[in-house]
Amino acid sequence: MIKVGVLGAKGRMGSLVSQTVRAADDLELVAEVDIGDSRDPLRGCEVVIDFTSPAAVMDNLQWCTRSGLNMVIGTSGFDDARLAQASDLLENLTEDTPQAAAKPRVLVVPNFSVGAVLMMKFAGQAARFFESAEIVELHHAGKVDAPSGTAARTAAMIAAARSAAGVGAGPDATTTQLDGARGAVVDGVHVHSVRLAGLVAHQEVLLGGHGETLMIRHDSLDRASFMPGVLMAVRGVASLPPGLTVGLEGLLGLA
Ligand SMILES: NC(=O)c1ccc[n+]([C@@H]2O[C@H](COP(=O)([O-])OP(=O)(O)OC[C@H]3O[C@@H](n4cnc5c(N)ncnc54)[C@H](O)[C@@H]3O)[C@@H](O)[C@H]2O)c1
Repeated sequence: MIKVGVLGAKGRMGSLVSQTVRAADDLELVAEVDIGDSRDPLRGCEVVIDFTSPAAVMDNLQWCTRSGLNMVIGTSGFDDARLAQASDLLENLTEDTPQAAAKPRVLVVPNFSVGAVLMMKFAGQAARFFESAEIVELHHAGKVDAPSGTAARTAAMIAAARSAAGVGAGPDATTTQLDGARGAVVDGVHVHSVRLAGLVAHQEVLLGGHGETLMIRHDSLDRASFMPGVLMAVRGVASLPPGLTVGLEGLLGLA
């Protein structure tokens, strides 16, 4: 039995994760922690899952890794700067702390849905064949950060594929605009964020070329779509190399 703790246990994702872990025969839910609770019960865990908020997650990461605990992080907000910060934190841990012997593994997963991981992969594969690439991400109105972690990662994958193939910026004749009209620019890719009551998590990657367009769309219709990926991450995190890993691709054999 793998002993599991959940941070953000009262939240939309955290409560479903707790329920899912409880229902799995090979996992034991030993701690459910939310804001204001002591994190001490997490010390008995082999894996801690974090679904809190971008403002809280780095402190949790520091606390868990200093306690020698493996982590699976679903919380958004891991842009390049934050990933570098997390990586530094794990490296310094190796040098400075007695818990370094435990060599924690931290798996940051921008999207646990297998369909979304495939959508990102396909977007990266297609990006070099088209002049233009933009992203529209659409989420429920309770989401506090924009753009989504998935959109930011998709943009990074598109940018890396285009740069490797020597494809420059897409054509864009805009000379005047209202602030935000062209979305946020992530790694040179325009990302448009929609927040709408009734939605869950959706994304479209729009690619345009000579007389043709390709749209790759993924819809998470229910938070249940994230649970197979969460279980895979919880079961697989100990098999990863020590330190930071980003994305489910490796565990899915897509890396
Ligand atoms: N990676 C993915 O596939 C995926 C999928 C869905 C949501 N998310 C992300 O997961 C995060 C949580 O989403 P949600 O919809 O469940 O949010 P939510 O607001 O419903 O839940 C967050 C929970 O975290 C708690 N919390 C805040 N600070 C805390 C702290 N310091 N310690 C412990 N608990 C704390 C809150 O009280 C709340 O219960 C967001 O960043 C969201 O974008 C990621």
